[in-house]
Amino acid sequence: MADDFKVTPWEVTGDIDYDVLMKRFGTAPIDDALLKRISKYAEPHPMLRRGIFYTHRDFNVILDEYEKGNKFYLYTGRGPSGNTHLGHIMPWIFNKWIQDTFDVNMLFQMTDDEKFLFKDLNVEDTRKMAYENALDFVALGFNPDKTKIIVDTENVKTLYPIALRVAKKVTYSTAKAVFGFDGESNIGRIFFTSMESAPAFLPSEIEGKPTNVLIPAGIDQDPHFRVTRDVAPGLKYPKPSLLYCKMCPGLNGGDKMSSSDENATIYTTDTPKQVKKKVGRAFTGGCVSVDEQREKGGNPEICAVFKYNYYLFEHDDAKLNEMADKCRRGEILCGECKVALTQKINVFLENHQAKREEAREIVKNMTFEGFKW
Ligand code: TRP
Repeated sequence: MADDFKVTPWEVTGDIDYDVLMKRFGTAPIDDALLKRISKYAEPHPMLRRGIFYTHRDFNVILDEYEKGNKFYLYTGRGPSGNTHLGHIMPWIFNKWIQDTFDVNMLFQMTDDEKFLFKDLNVEDTRKMAYENALDFVALGFNPDKTKIIVDTENVKTLYPIALRVAKKVTYSTAKAVFGFDGESNIGRIFFTSMESAPAFLPSEIEGKPTNVLIPAGIDQDPHFRVTRDVAPGLKYPKPSLLYCKMCPGLNGGDKMSSSDENATIYTTDTPKQVKKKVGRAFTGGCVSVDEQREKGGNPEICAVFKYNYYLFEHDDAKLNEMADKCRRGEILCGECKVALTQKINVFLENHQAKREEAREIVKNMTFEGFKW
C-alpha cells in the first residue's frame, strides 16, 4: 500500500512514497517556478534539479527578504549517535551550496542531549561522537568566519531561555499527537523538540531583530519544525523556512542508509577496501545471468548503485542518463557499474579524509560562544 510507511525523526519504516508524505506533512513541492527563481542566483544544485531536495515551507519568504537586502541564517544539525555516513553528509553538502550561493551565516546544532535521551548512550559517548561528527561537517568546507557549531550540552545556557519559552507554548497533547509519545516515554524526550527549535530563533537574538532562518534538512525532521513554526508568532519570531530532502538510500536497496545495517552503509572513515566490499554486495536488481542481463537489461530505478550516482556521485545529467539508458539496453553490467562507483566513492573519501584531518585545527575556532572541545 502506498501509504503503509512511517517517517518520524526517530524511525523510518516501510517503502516511503514521497508524494504521499508531502501531502501528509502539508509541505509544498519545489516546482519549476521555484527552480527558476533559484536560477537567478546560481545554476540549481543537482539535488534540486533531481528532486532530491523536493519540498519546502516558505522558501519564497527567504528569497523575498533576501531580495530586500535582509540576509537569512542557515541552520541544520546532527544527532551524534555514531560515525558519520554518506546519508548524513548529503544534506550538509547541500547546505554548503546554499551558504556559498547566498553568502550567509550558518548554525550547526549537535543534539547530544537528544541522542542521550533516545538511545542507549551515555553523555560521554554522545559528546565524543559530537566531536567526530563535527570533523566531517567542517571537512566539507563551510566558511569558518560565518559558521558556528552548537553542542547542546555546551551551549545550553544560551539555548535554554529560548527553549523554555517554546516549551511553555507546547502542550503534552501536541507532543503526543506529533511524535506519538506515550506514558512510557521519558520526560526528556517530550521536552526535546524545544531544544531543536531554539537555533531556529537564536539568529533573531544574535542580530537583535527578527531574522529569517532557512533549515535544509531531511524530511524526517519536519515534525519538529511544524511545532517550531506553530509557536513562532506567539514568541514574536519569524517562522523558519524549510527545504527538505528525501532520505539517502541504503546500498541494500532500502529507503534509508542506516547504521543498523553496517554492510549497506558507507562511513566517511571507511577504507578503499571496505568501500569495495560494500559496493560489491550492493543491491542492483540485475538479472541472475550475464546473458539474461544482456538480453533484458537492468532496472536503474531500483538499483542502489544507480541511486548513489543519482544522489551523490554523478553530477553530469547527460552522463547519468547515458548510464541509465545503457543499463536498460543491457549494454553495461552490474559489475562494471560497481567498479565505477567504488572508484568515485574512494576518490571522494580520500579527499574528505584529508580535509577531515585538517578540520581538527579549524574546528577549534568554529564553536558557538567559543566552548572548548
Ligand atoms: N535531530 C537531528 C538528528 O537526529 C539533528 C538536528 C538538530 C537537526 N537540529 C537540526 C537536523 C536541524 C536538521 C536540522 O539528526
